[in-house]
Parts: sequence; C-alpha cells; structure tokens
Amino acid sequence: MSDSINLTENEYTGIRELVYKRFGINLTEQKKTLVVGRLQKVLRELKLNSFTEYLSYIKADQTGDAMVTLVNRISTNHTFFYREHVHFSILTQKILPELKKQSNKKAIRIWSAGCSSGEEPYTISAMLHEFLGADISNWEIAILATDISSRVLELAKAATYSGENIGNLPVNLKKKYFTRLDGNQWSVKPLISKPILFRRFNLMRDEFPFKGQFDLIFCRNVMIYFDTPTKHTLVNKFYKFTKSNGYLFIGHSETLRSEACPYKYISPAVYHKEALN
Ligand SMILES: C[S@@+](CC[C@H](N)C(=O)[O-])C[C@H]1O[C@@H](n2cnc3c(N)ncnc32)[C@H](O)[C@@H]1O
Repeated sequence: MSDSINLTENEYTGIRELVYKRFGINLTEQKKTLVVGRLQKVLRELKLNSFTEYLSYIKADQTGDAMVTLVNRISTNHTFFYREHVHFSILTQKILPELKKQSNKKAIRIWSAGCSSGEEPYTISAMLHEFLGADISNWEIAILATDISSRVLELAKAATYSGENIGNLPVNLKKKYFTRLDGNQWSVKPLISKPILFRRFNLMRDEFPFKGQFDLIFCRNVMIYFDTPTKHTLVNKFYKFTKSNGYLFIGHSETLRSEACPYKYISPAVYHKEALN
C-alpha cells in the first residue's frame, strides 16, 4: 500500500480559500480528512509529492482543467430519483395546474441548478409528462440542467442508472419512463430526456447569461455547501431569473432567512415570486 501524502494546516487553508473563491463551497475543518482522501489519487497521478506542489500546479494551469478536476473530486454529488417527493406532489397538484391556467402560450421553462448526475431533471420531466398527459405534445417544454462537475454531467447525459438509484420511483413510473437493460441497469427513455439540456455552469458566476426567466428553479441540496452570504447572493440572483408567479425549490434540510429572502415562503423548501400589481 502506498503512503498517503500529508496535508498541513497551511495547505488546507490554501485549498479552502481556492475552493470558496471559485465555487462558493465552504470546506469546513471537519472535511479535511475527506478532502485528503479524495485528492490523494489526483496528486499521485500528477506525480506530485505535496499539496503545496498541487496548489502551485492548479494556480499555474491556464487551461482550467486542473480546477475542473479539483471540483470533480471535492464536490458531493449524492442524489437519486424522486428525492424529496413531497416537492413533486406540490408540483403536480398545485403549481403545474396554476401555471397551466396562466400560460396562454403553453410553454414552461425550468432550471435544475446543481443537477448532479441527472436524477432531478429526469424526475421533473417525468412529472410534467404525468401531469400534462397526451397534451404534452402541444407544449413547449425546456429544462436546463446545470452542474459545476463535468464528471456528473457525463453520467447525466449517459442516462443509465442502477436499479437502486431508481428504487424510490413508483413502479408504474419506472415502467413508463425507463427501458430495462442487462444487469439491473435502466435507461431513461427519450420521452423524458428530450426536453433536457445539460450544461456545465458555475453558480458563482457574477452574471447569469440567460436571456429569459424561468417558471421554476430547483436548487436542492446545493446551497448546503455555501455559507450564508454566498447563499443569499445566489438566492437574489435566482429571484431575478424567476418569472413573476414562478417558484424556487430548495432542499428540505436547507433554510433561507426570511429577511434576506425576496421570495414568499409557501411550504417547506418551496418559495414563490409574487406577481407585482
Ligand atoms: C448533492 S448534489 C444535489 C443534486 C440534486 N439537486 C438533488 O437534490 O438531489 C449537489 C450538486 O451541486 C453541485 N455544485 C456545487 N457547487 C456548485 C457551483 N458552484 N456551481 C454549480 N454546481 C455546484 C455539485 O457538483 C453537486 O453535483
């Protein structure tokens, strides 16, 4: 077994500062062991002997590839289909009926921000199918799904999942939206993958480049890694890109302080942008 490379306090501070500045991710002191574990392999592959050398290597890299590798290794991408399914009940029973009533153009624009390996946007797409039924062919549906990690985006585009990963989905939805492959692998049907566009996007970007606003923004279990000021700046940017009467979904374990949040709280982890009169 090869020896592990030691990470000094100074080096960890260097990594923390870099990761916070570039990605908003707040690596706490408790995460140190995890970070060492996740980066050992990268250092070995690069034939580097210390984290000081690694930090210099990242800073000198003009291509940005070193930063991508770093975020691919340190980001936590855990996700699964139908996660926090209360959200999908609210979506199909309250929000989509409302949007349907308001939309004279039969169009809906959704952003899954921090989509990881795709389970969230595919679930949203399946919910739209369930709600609209045969009428879906008359609708213009666009789901933008973004993440900072190129590694998880590749998995999302491959659209093949294990039986465990889709285990939470009701059986009828599994049958309707997936094709079973060999070895308990399941492939997403084009029916629900078609409206989704996967893109790499850093939520820390100063300006969001989108031309239009979104009816719904899902940013669930992403801001958990951000500190309060970063979270509030981001929520205000989301607000700017939410249509009037649109919604923001966050993770159930996350909180937004009401005085710093421009949205109106509707139910746990669901926020509404009220129409201006
Ligand atoms: C735990 S996953 C959440 C996936 C999904 N939204 C869910 O709730 O199951 C968090 C995702 O946020 C992404 N992420 C973290 N910081 C980011 C940033 N600055 N910009 C974009 N995505 C980021 C990570 O790469 C990771 O895939």
